[in-house]
Amino acid sequence: MKVRKAVIPAAGLGTRFLPVTKSVPKELLPILDRPMLQYVVEEAVEAGIEDIIIVTSRGKESIAAYFQPRPELESRLLETGAIEMAQMVKYVSNLADVSFVIQEEPLGLGHAILTAMEAVGNEPFVVILPDDIIDYRPGATSQVLKIAQGYGCGAIAVEQVPWDIIHNYGVVAVEKSDQARTYRVRQLVEKPPMAEAPSNLSIVGRYVLPPDIFECLQNTPPGAKGEIQLTDGIGLLLESRDVYAYEFVGTRYDGGTPLGLLRASLEFGLARNDTAQAVQTLINSLATG
Ligand code: G1P
Repeated sequence: MKVRKAVIPAAGLGTRFLPVTKSVPKELLPILDRPMLQYVVEEAVEAGIEDIIIVTSRGKESIAAYFQPRPELESRLLETGAIEMAQMVKYVSNLADVSFVIQEEPLGLGHAILTAMEAVGNEPFVVILPDDIIDYRPGATSQVLKIAQGYGCGAIAVEQVPWDIIHNYGVVAVEKSDQARTYRVRQLVEKPPMAEAPSNLSIVGRYVLPPDIFECLQNTPPGAKGEIQLTDGIGLLLESRDVYAYEFVGTRYDGGTPLGLLRASLEFGLARNDTAQAVQTLINSLATG
């Protein structure tokens, strides 16, 4: 099963990041010096994805601009001897074949994916939610893809979370499979109250889906928050297809909240050679007051 395309939904209003998201798309907010979106595009490329389809909304044109070449900036940097920086600018615009579709109305994640139906066509694809930043190589997309390819069906990333925050997530009911960290999905529920959650395995934003999901999404009524939920669409898919859940290896950072992004910046800063020492010194000095 060859998977060539990724859909990255980036159409949301980013309300948890107001006021900055009045004019800067949440997906362009940085972890250290790179937008969140770049990390997930790199993860897709690492997984062998060739075409990236970003679902955006009006007013978020700067997302497309980020992936455009900037020849004048490159020459300017080269002229001043900033060769590495010039390479970095070029690298971003050469990362992948990136295209855009517009979601006209904020009707939910499932609806955003449905907007990409024509761009995806009749082939399996991955969905990557840019709020879920996962720092591991091989990336979570590669990991989930391997499971999907092994079973020849859909697969989603999951992780165990404390029961008292389970209502923030899509949740799966599963049965064990013959492979470690891997389960067959029996049922999915979007944002259940704790008492109704079938497990504490929450859905993390990496999915491998067959094109049949589009028909399911067309038949998915509004669910949690009155929105068309991808989780409910996958629930319909289960009636005719198997879907596996994989407890990926790596740490997930919640790029959807300011504190999650701050934590990611600190931990990525500690992990990067060029920043590790300065970030450690910063943390030590903050801790000792
Ligand atoms: C979305 C999905 C949810 C999933 C979560 C992971 O929710 O609908 O199933 O668990 O992403 O980040 P959102 O965070 O957009 O509310």
